[in-house]
Amino acid sequence: MSIIIKSASKQDIKSSEITTETDYLNRRDFIKKSGILVSAAWAGGLSLPASAKSSDYGNDYPGLKKTAYGKGENLTSFKDATTYNNYYEFGTGKKDPAKKAVNFKTDPWSITVEGEASKTGTFHLEDILKHAQVEERIYRFRCVEAWSMTVPWVGFSLADMLKRFEPTSKAKYVQFETLYDPKQMPGQVRRVLDWPYRDGLRIDEAMNPLCFMATGIYGRDMPNQNGAPIRLVVPWKYGFKNIKSIVKIKFMEHEPVCTWNVTGPKEYGFYSNVNPDVDHPRWSQATERALGSNFWEPKTKTRLFNGYGEQVAHLYKDMDLTKYF
Ligand code: MTE
Repeated sequence: MSIIIKSASKQDIKSSEITTETDYLNRRDFIKKSGILVSAAWAGGLSLPASAKSSDYGNDYPGLKKTAYGKGENLTSFKDATTYNNYYEFGTGKKDPAKKAVNFKTDPWSITVEGEASKTGTFHLEDILKHAQVEERIYRFRCVEAWSMTVPWVGFSLADMLKRFEPTSKAKYVQFETLYDPKQMPGQVRRVLDWPYRDGLRIDEAMNPLCFMATGIYGRDMPNQNGAPIRLVVPWKYGFKNIKSIVKIKFMEHEPVCTWNVTGPKEYGFYSNVNPDVDHPRWSQATERALGSNFWEPKTKTRLFNGYGEQVAHLYKDMDLTKYF
């Protein structure tokens, strides 16, 4: 991938933000190391959630701010979260992404912002990260295939980032797009999905404080198979809305195309909120099995909005959730 960045409009990136290639290549490291002073304090008072093994954690983000989100939840092991993945660009098997994404190149990386916003253009990931308040949040994550995991995500508020692009009043939706690069992504050689992978949110959903842009898990940089270098996490929606390896963000007036919705419109709606009362046409959504649990252990009951109703139920007030599934 080229590191030549073209700006769509002059005000997008200040000249002081344009970097030489060397600065640029070092900047992602610099952003992380600047947390180093706080890290001594963090290392001294290390307190991990009860179920996490300290070896699951890495130290790519020294001084990472921990938050109250999901404190005390039982965490999925790093191994389970990184060896049982859906990432069709690297194959349709659950073990394919861990094996086939090993050499996926995620640095340099840039994101193009288009559509109904004042500040559009192509931005180095580093320039986006420079403004971000990076922190850790533990979120439950529920796949439409009825497995779930709970992971400490590293990242920052989606709303904070989107606001910096100054969406116009016409921006009613936002669409995200994954990289299309069949040379690196062997799964894209076959048309199993309508590439590039795309998904979207209504703008008020996207601006909800829970929405997170994740650049890591377990204090480590995002493993390639989990969507490096940057992916979306919307914890009250099914896993497939959590699009990986994002290269484009588009503000739109109309509901955007979403890959799974166009692939199977009767099975995957635009909203795809976790909902135990609305079954997938081919299986129940009432229960789930946590990754890493044994098959003889009882499944757990799935909760409406994956348990995040207090924060998000208002977004769907007066909507028939069987129609807008
Ligand atoms: N994003 C892209 N680009 N391609 C994909 O195939 N799979 C989705 C989602 N994001 C997918 C994607 C699905 S179905 C799930 S369940 C989650 O990623 C899995 O995320 P994880 O591998 O971190 O568990």
